[in-house]
Amino acid sequence: MSLTTDLEVVGTVTAHPDAGDRLIAGVPDREGLDRYRATGGYAPVEDAEALLSAVEASGLRGRGGAAFPTGTKLRTVRSGQSPVVVANGEEGEPASVKDRWLLRHRPHLVLDGLRLAGILTGAHDLHVYVSDPAAESSVTDALGEVAEAGINWDAKISVTRVDPTYVAGEETAVVRALNGGPALPQDKPPRPFDSGVDGRPTLVSNVETLANLPLIQRLGADGYRAVGTADSPGTFLLTLTGGLGNGLYEVPFGLTVRQVLTWLGQDPDQVRALLMGGYFSGVLGAQGLDVTLDYDAMRQVGSGLGCGAIGVVLQDRCPVAVSAAVMAYFARENAQQCGSCFNGTAAMAAVLEGLVEYKASDEDVRRLTYWSSFLRGRGACGTLDGATNVAAALLREFPELVDAHVAGSCATCDAGTVRVVDPPFAVGLP
Ligand SMILES: Cc1cc2nc3c(=O)[nH]c(=O)nc-3n(C[C@H](O)[C@H](O)[C@H](O)COP(=O)(O)O)c2cc1C
Ligand code: SF4
Repeated sequence: MSLTTDLEVVGTVTAHPDAGDRLIAGVPDREGLDRYRATGGYAPVEDAEALLSAVEASGLRGRGGAAFPTGTKLRTVRSGQSPVVVANGEEGEPASVKDRWLLRHRPHLVLDGLRLAGILTGAHDLHVYVSDPAAESSVTDALGEVAEAGINWDAKISVTRVDPTYVAGEETAVVRALNGGPALPQDKPPRPFDSGVDGRPTLVSNVETLANLPLIQRLGADGYRAVGTADSPGTFLLTLTGGLGNGLYEVPFGLTVRQVLTWLGQDPDQVRALLMGGYFSGVLGAQGLDVTLDYDAMRQVGSGLGCGAIGVVLQDRCPVAVSAAVMAYFARENAQQCGSCFNGTAAMAAVLEGLVEYKASDEDVRRLTYWSSFLRGRGACGTLDGATNVAAALLREFPELVDAHVAGSCATCDAGTVRVVDPPFAVGLP
């Protein structure tokens, strides 16, 4: 396998015509306080219970990967003593830029969401957690604008920047870092909502999730649900990579990748597979083009939308090689804390590398199949689950290609057109 390191720069940022004026909202550069306030931002909350009920009724689900209902998280943390809220903008996923874009370009939307989460939970201690220096400056400047304008939030807000790693945005790593430790995951329980920052109940929410709260305040639950599906209402930020319409797009849930590509003027027939949910859900065959972009529809086909990042695997790339590169990344970037994870990812990476090099046997594939289910849930954080997903997805979606690699002949790889980048589908902002 030929590996090169490359970082695609995401230059195109735009909203689907049906997305409305929500997350991207035609913001070309960086939105300042005046523009944000002119669109109704930082509106007072007359009745926190009514707004919390609206968040619950909106069906908002977390955009950090697990898609958990945000209203439920808010209410749980609200019931605890002296809660804390953290806006998680670390974005360790190499194939995603959405959180950095929001923090750099719409810092007030994110901060307004954090303010509302503070009001809804009764938290007076708010944190913004990032790894991107430009995101840090954007948020710090925005807080300066808020202070200068005399807006009082009745809360202490701090911004913390850590070194970017794959695991630094996992919620227990976030809490550990804010408590002065390393940004590494730890065993659960306790979960942050029970005992997080300073041992207090802590809501860790993705910045895109928080950015939806002012939209719900402005639109109301029904207005918010005007786009999207019943179980995945609203819009989401889709980071599309791989060479077919690369960019950051705001799209309503309920479209399909085929519809998104067609909207972008791209030819869906060029798609051989989709790498779903960033690195977390592994490859999905071309039939995935017609699966509804909705958390549950994706789960039903054994895949996942995760943080909304989708890598297009073009016809001249081999899904075995792509999966091997993702697994090599997990083997290298896991936090080396759990034996099952560092041994398991290394063993799965070795089999996948063996497949790419035509050195793996049927017995190796049997072991990979076993590990892809046996290792699930055995790490302190979800990294090992992501790795097992990658192996299971390849075996489920492309069994004949795996067989071809065992037999020592893959048409794509033999044609020598494959160029697998390490890490694959990694993106950055200009
Ligand atoms: C290995 C790993 C890395 C993660 N990285 C991030 C991240 O960078 N940003 C993020 O918001 N959530 C990340 N998550 C998910 C968080 O643990 C947590 O579920 C999320 O921040 C909750 O926010 P939400 O409810 O708004 O989705 C990660 C999870 C895992 C297992
Ligand atoms: S599961 Fe892996 S990445 Fe997560 S804490 Fe354990 S060793 Fe680290």
